[in-house]
Parts: sequence; C-alpha cells; structure tokens
Amino acid sequence: MTEKTHTQIRVWDLPVRLFHWGLAGSFVLAYLSGENDLDHLHSLIGYFIASLLLFRLLWGFVGSRHARFGDFVRPPSAVLGYLRQTLQGKGPRHLGHNPAGGAMVIALMLTLGLTALSGMALYGSTDFAGPMAGWFSGALAADLLEETHEFLAQLSLVLIGLHLTGVLFSSLAHRENLIKSMFTGLKADLKKEQLHD
Ligand code: HEM
Repeated sequence: MTEKTHTQIRVWDLPVRLFHWGLAGSFVLAYLSGENDLDHLHSLIGYFIASLLLFRLLWGFVGSRHARFGDFVRPPSAVLGYLRQTLQGKGPRHLGHNPAGGAMVIALMLTLGLTALSGMALYGSTDFAGPMAGWFSGALAADLLEETHEFLAQLSLVLIGLHLTGVLFSSLAHRENLIKSMFTGLKADLKKEQLHD
C-alpha cells in the first residue's frame, strides 16, 4: 500500500519558497539585531518582514493551489483530529500543509505580524518615527509597547521551535525530506489513494 511512483510534482511555487527563506533569514537577523540594540537595522528588517507577510496574505488568495489558504486552513476540529491520528501513528501524508502545519502557518503569520506592528508602534512612541509616529505617547505607553513587542518576539521563537519539530517529525514519519522540498518546490507524487492532497 505504500508503493511509490517516481514522479515529482511541484507543490511550493517560487514565491512561497522565496517568502519562506526570506522570512526565516529575516527573523534571525531581526532577533540578533534586536538583542544587540542595532535599532536602525532592526527596524528596516521589521518593515521587510511586514512586507513579506502582506505579500503572503495576498498570495494566500491568488497563488498556486497549495499556496492558497483554502488548501490548508482547516477548522479546529480537523486540526485536533489530525493531531490525535498523529499521536496514534496514523497521521496521513499530505501534499500541501497538513492540518496542523496549516494552523501553524496562520499562528506564525499572526504572531510575526503583531510583532512587527508592535515594533512600529514602539518606534513611533519612542523615536516619533515610522508609520505610527505619535500614535502612542508617554513613558507608560512606551513601557507597555516594549513589553508587548518582546513578549511577541519570544512567542514567535516558541512557535518556530514547534514548527521545526513538526517539520522534522513529519519528514521522519513519512520518510520524505520536507526541508529539501521547501528549496526545490518538489514532492514525490504518491499514488492518489495513499495521500490526502
Ligand atoms: C532552518 C529553519 C527552517 C526550516 C528547515 C523550515 C522548514 C519549513 C518547511 C519544510 C516548510 C513546509 C512544511 C510543509 O511541508 O508543510 C515550512 C513552512 C513554513 N515555515 Fe519554515 N522552516 C524554517 C524556519 C522558519 C522560520 C524561522 C519561520 C518564521 C519566521 C518559518 C515560517 C514558515 C511558514 C510561514 C511556512 C509556511 C510557508 C507557506 O506556505 O508560505 N520557517 N518551513
């Protein structure tokens, strides 16, 4: 039943792959520049991350099949059902994101988007600069925004840890290199009845 054909099919289009590795690299740079008080560089990377997220939001509606939100956003019951099956060792392989992976995409996009937004609000309150200059003023607002921004950055880090765990787990469970697929865009096209696409 697990017999493979040798056909490879394109699952991730080029914009998804550029978005992914651009986002991953930018997050590392944003984190390091934030830790080392490189404020100018940090805010530039923050704008870049916000632009990538806006692009991905749009691409989720007009991109190729597996890039679309409609392909991988599932109701919570389906995500829980998939996680239950996975714990029993029966989580089916998916060509695009599996239901838990899809939920993680949304969680990551939301958390990273809010991190970027809170960073802009903080910059606007402390330096009176950026698109949210002057929206919030006073020491209390600046303190609260700083706490919020740092909390969201740490939350993003936790989600990224879970994301990597999921990717590795899924790669091992289905004996396929998902990381390589995120570079090439290609996945093995198993016989139709053996996967959920
Ligand atoms: C070395 C680090 C990383 C590796 C190896 C990696 C790997 C992957 C893989 C294999 C997928 C596709 C999962 C699937 O097949 O369903 C994926 C998707 C995704 N990853 Fe990562 N990832 C890394 C870092 C990150 C980071 C740091 C972020 C966020 C800042 C991130 C955000 C995402 C998002 C948003 C998607 C969904 C892509 C889309 O549909 O546009 N990843 N990642």
